[in-house]
Amino acid sequence: MPKIAMIWGVSGGIGRAVAQELQANGWTVIGIGRHPEDAAHNCNYLFTADVAREYDVQTAVHAASFEVDQINLWIYAAGDIKTTAVVDFDLASWQRILDANLTGPFLTTKHSLPLLADDAHLVYLGAVSERLKLPKFSAYVAAKAGLEAFVGSLQKELRGKKITLVRPGAVATSFWDKLPIRLPKDAAPPEKVAKRILAAYDTGHSGQLDLV
Ligand SMILES: NC(=O)c1ccc[n+]([C@@H]2O[C@H](COP(=O)([O-])OP(=O)(O)OC[C@H]3O[C@@H](n4cnc5c(N)ncnc54)[C@H](OP(=O)(O)O)[C@@H]3O)[C@@H](O)[C@H]2O)c1
Repeated sequence: MPKIAMIWGVSGGIGRAVAQELQANGWTVIGIGRHPEDAAHNCNYLFTADVAREYDVQTAVHAASFEVDQINLWIYAAGDIKTTAVVDFDLASWQRILDANLTGPFLTTKHSLPLLADDAHLVYLGAVSERLKLPKFSAYVAAKAGLEAFVGSLQKELRGKKITLVRPGAVATSFWDKLPIRLPKDAAPPEKVAKRILAAYDTGHSGQLDLV
């Protein structure tokens, strides 16, 4: 039986690469995002959702439950960033960054849990938060540090499941278009992150996975 993966944020650089890697390895892939059609070639099923809208999230999981019995590998690859000094940060932008990096993981986890296999593996894309306590990174670093705490607590709640918090260094995706700094020359291709995620599943990894 093919294994089944669900990817949130599937149209992003890392999300798409993970979908591609999984499909190449025989997985059935459910891709969810605001523009899932961008990953259509690498997904068996596509659903549209904003991860911060509870109704969208519930509807996407409900629709997926008509297509598959259970999820073996669940990946949260959505995220957003804005770098602005606190004094200039508007509330709507702050909320958007917290939504994509912290509230989204909560809502998508909460509503996906009933569809996850007992021994399912959950993977969250975090960041090396302790290195990102930089000027203008307040919203992003607060959200990613919050995600680490969320995942740490969840690990103790979901004893039968594996949970991996992936913390990549720089990855060459359009995420960097939102930053006022250049992509480092040694940035990893998203395909490398995708292979590490599949290897984490294959080896039953659980805990923090730093890719720096
Ligand atoms: N690239 C890096 O160097 C790097 C390093 C460390 C960690 N990460 C983390 O890795 C993850 C993936 O990053 P990436 O490089 O693949 O970035 P990306 O190419 O910008 O992809 C991010 C994806 O998140 C989606 N997204 C944002 N807000 C959303 C929302 N409210 N609802 C649904 N989807 C939403 C975006 O959708 P739209 O296309 O609709 O905007 C996009 O598809 C992020 O969590 C990021 O923080 C990236």
